[in-house]
Amino acid sequence: MAIQRVIVFTLIASSLISGSYAIAGTATYYNVYVPSSCYGFENQGTMIAAANAALFNNSAACGRRYRVRCTGSTNQGIPQPCRNGEITVKIVDMCPGCEANQVDLSLQAFATIADLDAGRINIDFNPA
Ligand SMILES: *[C@@H]1O[C@H](CO)[C@@H](O)[C@H](O)[C@H]1NC(C)=O
Repeated sequence: MAIQRVIVFTLIASSLISGSYAIAGTATYYNVYVPSSCYGFENQGTMIAAANAALFNNSAACGRRYRVRCTGSTNQGIPQPCRNGEITVKIVDMCPGCEANQVDLSLQAFATIADLDAGRINIDFNPA
């Protein structure tokens, strides 16, 4: 009995530590990286993303990193768009057309976690 309680407690504690703060959202992709609102014409590589207005928060999010994982299809054509694994992207820009909790990933970042043909996927993201 005592051992079972310890196990249950450990499971709850570890789920609190890992992953339970993930934000559910959607991701699209873009492929013109400069100029960006955070870094102008400075090249920031390709593991980057543009944040929706709320997340961008008037440039406060510039340089923040997020871990992003594909969680499923948005039913726009590809039934199973997700690839395994997660990516870490750096916020370099604002995405003016994005909805709340939408993130616009670089093409390379999107292609790492999902099939590009999906265009839009469901994601979970966490501060990295
Ligand atoms: C937005 O950024 C400011 C600092 O520039 C911070 O105080 C505030 O908490 C941020 N808001 C959100 C919703 O993250």
